Amino acid sequence: MDDTPPVETEVYPTHDALSRAAAERIEAAVTDTLASQDLCAVALAGGSTPRQTYELLSSADWAWDRIHWFWGDERMVPHGHPESNVHLARTTLFDGVAVPDDHVHPMPTAGPPDQAAARYEGTLRRHLGDRDYTFDLVLLGLGADGHTASLFPDTDLHPDDSAWVRPTTAPTDHAIRQRLTCTLAALNQARAGYFLVSGESKRNAVRAVLDDQDPSLPATHVRPTRQLRWFLDEAARPHAA
Ligand code: 6PG
Repeated sequence: MDDTPPVETEVYPTHDALSRAAAERIEAAVTDTLASQDLCAVALAGGSTPRQTYELLSSADWAWDRIHWFWGDERMVPHGHPESNVHLARTTLFDGVAVPDDHVHPMPTAGPPDQAAARYEGTLRRHLGDRDYTFDLVLLGLGADGHTASLFPDTDLHPDDSAWVRPTTAPTDHAIRQRLTCTLAALNQARAGYFLVSGESKRNAVRAVLDDQDPSLPATHVRPTRQLRWFLDEAARPHAA
């Protein structure tokens, strides 16, 4: 029997509405988790789509001292770099919030990528290794090419990978090519995953993943343990004509 979760999709008229709905749902999911366990592990997405959602969540009414923050991927740039996914979170979600430093676990971006990946693997195993899930909630975006986190098409997806973190190289059309990414194994051992996808440029990739289940696209293979939900705007997922 296939016990993978059904794919839930929610389409909102605008990016603003998507961001508000996603923020509300994320706050509710984290609060629900903390009602039944001491700590909640959240993996953050990078890119630009989640910015407004993160800004809204900076005023979330949750126990900041009981949430640990991780990343699904990172660009191999200093954490203060404007293209850093840690920089995105620090200037939105964590802006003005007293988040305990030891609850924020950025991916290391100095040194050889394979060593940085191994170090983050150690961080994840140390914090999450003895739990039923890796992350309680993983937030993800979608590239127009169907990539998610920094798992790009035509890279070896290692669906049953023993590793949770690997170095990857983005295609040439990406300004920053050297990345670290959580593997599908790590993402799919999460309890729940939320995709936040906005804009007409993502329309074809959304269709390829949600309607065609295109196996060449990494996002198609994301199947967290208990829940998979897509937050979309109409530009990315027009209502059937
Ligand atoms: C990254 C992200 C990546 C992102 C998509 C969508 O580090 O680039 O993790 O997977 O979510 O590329 O990016 P946008 O939200 O900017 O469209």
